Amino acid sequence: MKIAILGTGMVGKTLGTKLVACGHEVRMGARDAANEAAAAWAASAGSRASTGTFADASAFGEVVFLCVLGEVATKVVEAAREGLAGKILVDLTNPLDFSEGMPPKLFTSGSDSLGKRVQAAAPEARVVKALNTVSCNVMIDPASVPGDHGLFVCGDDADAKARVLSLLREDFGWRVIHDLGPLAMARCTEGYLPLWVSLYGLMGTDRFNVAVQKGG
Ligand SMILES: NC(=O)c1ccc[n+]([C@@H]2O[C@H](COP(=O)([O-])OP(=O)(O)OC[C@H]3O[C@@H](n4cnc5c(N)ncnc54)[C@H](OP(=O)(O)O)[C@@H]3O)[C@@H](O)[C@H]2O)c1
Repeated sequence: MKIAILGTGMVGKTLGTKLVACGHEVRMGARDAANEAAAAWAASAGSRASTGTFADASAFGEVVFLCVLGEVATKVVEAAREGLAGKILVDLTNPLDFSEGMPPKLFTSGSDSLGKRVQAAAPEARVVKALNTVSCNVMIDPASVPGDHGLFVCGDDADAKARVLSLLREDFGWRVIHDLGPLAMARCTEGYLPLWVSLYGLMGTDRFNVAVQKGG
């Protein structure tokens, strides 16, 4: 499959490398087509990896992963909007505000969420919120954390969500995935992030996750 990664940070590089290793063609997008981090990633990832602008990448991918700084997520989606029409857009971003120290605040509130803003920035895209509650190392290697820990997914398009669930299971190896329903639930998964950051401090590793256990 042709996959786009919007973002050259550690999430974009980690996902991109894994997806190339799974046999996909992956194009990484950045503000500048000559972005050095993207070029270095493509050189190390092999012949199925390529680079371009955010717009180039979104035009290329059948599925697009949004892996940019939360503050600029809607701006990046607007830049990539034309290529996103009808596409599955997996939103991994978090609305974190570190301006008042740790743990971070969210820059969204009430019923607002970054998932909702991303969908509004590209109304023709089929947004699925996923993977934002675990570190990128756990995203692509859930077995590195023992137990039946799970992932949370939400989105308004049932077919898009089913295709993302399939990719998460088959390519990344996720066994437990909680489908929370509509994209409006993005505010709930994003709201977990200040706790995730606090747990990261306690754990001393990013390889941890939560498990939802049900009583009898
Ligand atoms: N780190 C994790 O393990 C983890 C886990 C779950 C979710 N997340 C979420 O994943 C997202 C990506 O995290 P990350 O640490 O990999 O990367 P990041 O440093 O948050 O973002 C890097 C990307 O943001 C773009 N960017 C920065 N400033 C910009 C601006 N003014 N205009 C347009 N684009 C701009 C960069 O573009 P250029 O390439 O052009 O420089 C780059 O592609 C975040 O929202 C984060 O909350 C991270």
